[in-house]
Amino acid sequence: MAQLPCMGDEDIELLNSQTHIWNNIFSYIKSSSLKCAVELGIPDIIHKHGRPMTLLELVDAIPINKAKAGHLARLMRTLIHYGFFLHTKIQGSEEGKDGYYALAPPSTLLLKDNPFSLRPYLLCMLDPILTQSWNHAREWFQNDDPTPFDTAHGMTLWDYAAHQPEFNHMFNEAMASDARVVMNVVIKYCKGVFEGLNSLVDVAGGTGTVARTIADAFPDLMCTVFDLPHVIRGLEGTKNLDYVGGDMFVSIPRATALFLKWILHDWNDEECVKILKKCKESIPIKENGGKVIIIDMVIDNVRKDKKLFETQICFDTMMLSALTGRERAMKDWEKLFSDAGFSDYKIISIPGLWSIIEVYP
Ligand SMILES: C[S@@+](CC[C@H](N)C(=O)[O-])C[C@H]1O[C@@H](n2cnc3c(N)ncnc32)[C@H](O)[C@@H]1O
Repeated sequence: MAQLPCMGDEDIELLNSQTHIWNNIFSYIKSSSLKCAVELGIPDIIHKHGRPMTLLELVDAIPINKAKAGHLARLMRTLIHYGFFLHTKIQGSEEGKDGYYALAPPSTLLLKDNPFSLRPYLLCMLDPILTQSWNHAREWFQNDDPTPFDTAHGMTLWDYAAHQPEFNHMFNEAMASDARVVMNVVIKYCKGVFEGLNSLVDVAGGTGTVARTIADAFPDLMCTVFDLPHVIRGLEGTKNLDYVGGDMFVSIPRATALFLKWILHDWNDEECVKILKKCKESIPIKENGGKVIIIDMVIDNVRKDKKLFETQICFDTMMLSALTGRERAMKDWEKLFSDAGFSDYKIISIPGLWSIIEVYP
């Protein structure tokens, strides 16, 4: 190899900057490759096989054009690099070609049959209906629309869901998949939040995954799932769970406690204060057990952990593209509670991304 003259710091920085920009330009390749693998059913196929698979076995098992086997190996190499699959090389074989593919731990959360599967969440968040908003972000910064989603589709996400049953179904399934993971932790470690309550309304509770978990864990607690009429249409309750359709900006059914998971981050401050004031009208005074239980992020609580902070700011930017809301720091939460007339709050800290906040009238 020919020896180059020693490269100057400026040129090294130039090349490093180019790599940094290239890696960021192509960061959509990470999520797009993952989506493609999930749509092809690769995690499920490897899992069902019961042991790691060779490329040939994988190609045989997946409904693809067999002439594209080499391209599948390239897709797998990318996903191995990003930590979704493992590859054991057969000695002496060409890199990425021969060997066995196995699931890396995060991919077990993408299996259809895993009760905590995030597959519906992945497919919804990466659906063109949502990602389309980004093609309109520049235009949105220059117009008066509330969100890039509105600029892309001419209506809010909630109106879109009300008019497009397929999107409505996909969105509700995505929320339910996330709810199963979150509620598993809440019921295991934070049961005290629900103890002593007679009634609870899950405000904007989607199709009821959260409320069902609570109702099953507390058979004497009467739970109500409250959401827009098109979301709860046709759903049937149980002995201690019912469904009510309505608009939380108009009125919320009365209960000792109201539960709001991933709701306030969907809305701007003014809208949140309106929702919280409606909540306050529907619960008894603090001395009689009245409280609002919020599950949402407190954006500054993980700042020291770069990885968790990255997830929080990604969520915040996702909110910017699709809804009027945002992720909030503690001082933002405090202001919302005081503007809505609440007297006090308590944070129940959980390791990771989100927190439980109890707010008292
Ligand atoms: C991000 S999802 C959260 C669903 C559920 N809480 C969960 O965590 O799985 C927001 C929910 O707010 C509901 N929603 C939006 N606008 C509403 C309104 N004006 N009144 C009641 N529910 C509303 C949506 O239909 C959706 O189910």
